[in-house]
Amino acid sequence: MAFAIKVNGNTHNVDVDDDTPLLWVLRDVLGMTGTKFGCGMALCGACTVHIDGAPTRSCIAPIDSIGNSEIRTIEAIGATAAGAKIQKAWLDREVPQCGYCQSGQIMSAAALLATNPHPTDTDIDDAMSGNICRCGTYARIREAIKQAAETNG
Ligand code: FES
Ligand code: FES
Repeated sequence: MAFAIKVNGNTHNVDVDDDTPLLWVLRDVLGMTGTKFGCGMALCGACTVHIDGAPTRSCIAPIDSIGNSEIRTIEAIGATAAGAKIQKAWLDREVPQCGYCQSGQIMSAAALLATNPHPTDTDIDDAMSGNICRCGTYARIREAIKQAAETNG
């Protein structure tokens, strides 16, 4: 079936089965491979994208549930104010290790900062708890989010 989805400000026409997960459409149909496949069961956060600004596990979001929603992926998160601050802090703090989980981590962190400019430790833990890092970069992730938040007035 044909769907028109809005990704990073552009409309893409895709022809896939109704229950195809958004993650598959992004990676395999549109070639946007910054969003990662980890578990496929909403357990790891590697596939996190924003749907209308909300961090969402794209591995369990069927394409027929998207409608006119605005999807944003890691490829364009730097174009948002919160995303740019998060990416700078990630670089300054040298957060990634293997890197596999990091696009999902950045998407969750950017969504947090966009809605909560001055998150507490508890806010950070709550927002990031669904994003697993096998390399254990959690301490640097928290530091980077705090650094990004410090630049908010
Ligand atoms: S791949 Fe979607 S949460 Fe793990
Ligand atoms: S940096 Fe390796 S899994 Fe997170």
